[in-house]
Amino acid sequence: MNNIVTASYIGASILFILSLGGLSNQETARRGNYYGIAGMTLAILATVLSNNVNAYVVLIIMMLIGGAIGMTLAKRVEMTQMPELVAILHSFVGLAAVLVGVASYLDPDNQLTGVEHSIHQVEIFLGVFIGAVTFTGSVIAFGKLNGRIASKPLMLPMRHGLNLAIVLICFWLGSAFMGAEGHGGLWALLVMTVLAFLFGAHLVMGIGGADMPVVISMLNSYSGWAAAATGFMLSNDLLIVTGALVGSSGAILSYIMCRAMNRKFLNVILGGFGTSAAAAGGDEEAGEYTPISAEETAELLKDAKEVVIVPGYGMAVAHAQHPVSELTKKLRANGANVRFAIHPVAGRMPGHMNVLLAEAKVPYDIVLEMDEINEDFPETDVVMVIGANDIVNPAAKENPGSPIAGMPVLEVWNAKHCIISKRSMATGYAGVDNPLFYRDNSRMLFGDAKDSVDAVLKAL
Ligand code: TAP
Repeated sequence: MNNIVTASYIGASILFILSLGGLSNQETARRGNYYGIAGMTLAILATVLSNNVNAYVVLIIMMLIGGAIGMTLAKRVEMTQMPELVAILHSFVGLAAVLVGVASYLDPDNQLTGVEHSIHQVEIFLGVFIGAVTFTGSVIAFGKLNGRIASKPLMLPMRHGLNLAIVLICFWLGSAFMGAEGHGGLWALLVMTVLAFLFGAHLVMGIGGADMPVVISMLNSYSGWAAAATGFMLSNDLLIVTGALVGSSGAILSYIMCRAMNRKFLNVILGGFGTSAAAAGGDEEAGEYTPISAEETAELLKDAKEVVIVPGYGMAVAHAQHPVSELTKKLRANGANVRFAIHPVAGRMPGHMNVLLAEAKVPYDIVLEMDEINEDFPETDVVMVIGANDIVNPAAKENPGSPIAGMPVLEVWNAKHCIISKRSMATGYAGVDNPLFYRDNSRMLFGDAKDSVDAVLKAL
């Protein structure tokens, strides 16, 4: 039986790697998901049928309850709430690592001695630490993403000193834990767990709204390492491989996102960014803005040869992707070259806009990344910004005092005309004012993005 289980684990690992490969491209993403589903099914079956498992009744009841909750939530969740869902799921991985760690320490069947015993102790201590940080960090991230906790960073006095003190005390507790006989180290493990809970919460509380995307992928990475640590504790190779895959892909994603936002990873982790709208220095820029009607927008679009559409979070909220897709078809039929410009952190999760546009059947080849299209704006007749704000904010380039200074943005202001569809003059996620709205070539198309695009379509 053990050989079959090992072979299945290898098969599942390969399927997970194929899944990640598939997910790297929109055209193969669906296949990537199927590989992932197949890999996970194989992994669960092999684990359930292995010699280690015998409490089938409890297991099946728990799987049915867990599966039912998961399925209901996944069906109910809106695309815009996906990052919250991901955050809360990370927290489960973290909590599982904590529980497995404590259970593994108290396991009466554990007969390890000598070096093996010491290694196992380190695995438990580290696994519980990473798991606890992931758990509370993810719960706070969940709260910040769904607005129950303010996205403003919490700046306690001496917060770096506080973090450092927690880490140092955890080191000391670690040595006490390692030196204890029998189960005598339980107190050190539990005290460290409480401190790690506080550490995780404090770490994420200190991070401001604009940096949340990086935090989510960082927690994704932590949850992977927590799973890998659990794999070591349970001597489960598949969990180690899967955890390492999630851990490293999350770390790479964090790095890519930091680069996209021109932020240093360490600065993000140490927090305190994206503080307040007032800090934006946008107020002196604020001036007159010019509204535009759907009919006037249609007139401009009718005559345009080069059109670029910049989708953002508002398009997702308004579910405007279908009318936007219709608009694209109509303009292309009219002879215009229509393309989409996708900022790496547009919306609320990586690839958010790509998913929505794919769902609305916008052809992949006209959906371009920021770097591929940023230089083309001067030759563009009309840019339609649909529910985007921070990602088209010129202050990022022009105002060194802005909280988003240095973040690469789509330079839509270089186009001949820039039409911005949003409901009001409100700020975006980072809470900073946007001087784009007051430029001479900018026009504000006020209203819900779906209604606005529908009205433009009608006028066309
Ligand atoms: P935002 O800067 O958040 O701007 C979205 C704009 O959409 C808002 O200003 C809002 O203005 C408008 N809007 C909202 N609902 C609308 C509706 N129904 N119809 C029309 N407009 C609507 O979005 P963005 O430009 O996509 O930038 C993304 C931001 O989120 C960045 O700051 C990024 O760092 C952050 N973030 C990104 C991620 C990832 S990974 N992508 C994750 C978390 C956070 P009104 O209220 O006036 O309508």
